[in-house]
Amino acid sequence: MPRHVGIIMDGNGRWAAARGLPRLEGHRRGAERLFEVIDACIDLGIGTLTVFAFSAENWKRPQEEVSGLFKLGEWLLRAHLSRLHRRKVRLRVIGDVASLPDFARGPLLEAVEASAGHDAFTLVVALNYGARQEAAQAARKLAEEVVAGRLRAEQIDWTVLESRLDTAGQPDPDLIIRTSGEFRLSNFLLLQSAYAEIHIAKEYWPDFGRPQLEAALDDYRSRERRFGMTGQQVQGAPPAP
Ligand code: FPP
Repeated sequence: MPRHVGIIMDGNGRWAAARGLPRLEGHRRGAERLFEVIDACIDLGIGTLTVFAFSAENWKRPQEEVSGLFKLGEWLLRAHLSRLHRRKVRLRVIGDVASLPDFARGPLLEAVEASAGHDAFTLVVALNYGARQEAAQAARKLAEEVVAGRLRAEQIDWTVLESRLDTAGQPDPDLIIRTSGEFRLSNFLLLQSAYAEIHIAKEYWPDFGRPQLEAALDDYRSRERRFGMTGQQVQGAPPAP
């Protein structure tokens, strides 16, 4: 079972268009699916789920859709907070949270703080997140520390860089799922996914539920993860003479 699953929840707009519905209705149905998938992850023993809810590039969408998404996010949090607490879910947010609208940021940060003691499951919401922006910000932090004399440039390795990313302290994703049949990572957890297995589900996100998650996990279990080694090494077989 993967310790950490990341999901790029794609296809809400196309799901809605195929039914003659407004795009926001697709997001609303997608949001309902998210809670079904969270429950399934907890039941299946997955420790961490990171979902791409709003990318740093999504601000380019029509203003009505952007504000609708944040209103939906705020409503979702209010509607599901007690359920998340009951299931001992720790909530984390990655991305540039400071630039989110006040009405969404306040309750979100309160929920993050209130759930900090929970350890049954971690839900990481990527909001106003972009992997390139995250990497640039980490580089900036490191440069400031070097200039201030708290760090020497030659001390910087992956472990040090990783500890300045938004995801510091979290395990890397083992499995990245993208829905709607698209084969792209779209600036999601690029550094952390270096050794992640990728599963592309053909369904649009509002049609993705427990059976589709289980299919993704079956696919994951069929892969041989080699982390740069040979298949023989991974399987523990003696090296060829
Ligand atoms: C991608 O579908 C989906 C999103 C950009 C938003 C995902 C958000 C939710 C599921 C709801 C939770 C929302 C928040 C803010 C917490 P798309 O619109 O790109 O679909 P398309 O490619 O078919 O147009």
